Amino acid sequence: MYETILFEQKNNFAIIKINRPDKLNALNSKVLDELSQAFRHCGENESIWGVILTGSGEKAFVAGADIGEINQLNSKTGKEFALRGQSVFNYIEQFPKPVVCAVNGFALGGGCELAMACHIRIASDNAKFGQPEVNLGIIPGYGGTQRLTRLIGKGRAMYMILTGEMIDANTALQYGLVNKVVPLNELLDESEKVLSTIIQKGRIALTTAIRSINSACELPLSEGLKFEADMFAVCCGTEDFKEGTSAFLAKRKPEFKGK
Ligand code: COA
Repeated sequence: MYETILFEQKNNFAIIKINRPDKLNALNSKVLDELSQAFRHCGENESIWGVILTGSGEKAFVAGADIGEINQLNSKTGKEFALRGQSVFNYIEQFPKPVVCAVNGFALGGGCELAMACHIRIASDNAKFGQPEVNLGIIPGYGGTQRLTRLIGKGRAMYMILTGEMIDANTALQYGLVNKVVPLNELLDESEKVLSTIIQKGRIALTTAIRSINSACELPLSEGLKFEADMFAVCCGTEDFKEGTSAFLAKRKPEFKGK
């Protein structure tokens, strides 16, 4: 069904693996289309409660947007190119179900930008992160100047983007660019463990938390707080809220239904 990604549903979550290992999983337009298609499928399928996104092979998560395609751009098509990637990554960032990125090696350029659009990032100890676009005479165009700045701060983002230097997994952890670092052979198990823990919670609470946290990067504090109160109120209207609070009071484990 897909040419450039592998798709697997395991229990209540999906694993999407970008699969161009001979090109270090570089993102061409086909990959973007198929990623978009796979995420839409996960969004519509009620038996899928979360997604793990990773790359094929042991060397790279994604080594960037495909430089062969970039080479053909001009100032008109360049804008369309950036907006197309941004729209796919925005969709992932706003995805209503939790998305864990298992970064299994190089996450460069569009690869780092894709990882940053996910909700949680777990890296293997051989992972390397960078925005090396200046080496090609361009800047990050799939959200890098915006999301890296928000995630690790202006000073560090400025340094990484202007020098194009890579950082290793432990530096990424120290910067807050990733949530955890594990040995490569434990990466998928650990990612599955984290996602499984998350999707046992009330799923409407997860969706509203994602929306509310994302809004913190968009809105002034007073507006963000109003939005948070609205999302809190949504949760208070759910069966899961009754179940979660009642289970706590009755000293038993909650059984959430996602309603
Ligand atoms: N776009 C297209 N092809 C890419 C690519 C990219 N972003 N990154 C790697 N590849 C291809 C290489 O051209 C090579 O293909 P080939 O075997 O047909 O020649 C293959 O993937 C393996 O890459 P190679 O460079 O030989 O591996 P390496 O171990 O020597 O170096 C990197 C690894 C990641 C340091 C190096 O590939 C690199 O710098 N890639 C580009 C990173 C980048 O600038 N990304 C931002 C793009 S906007």
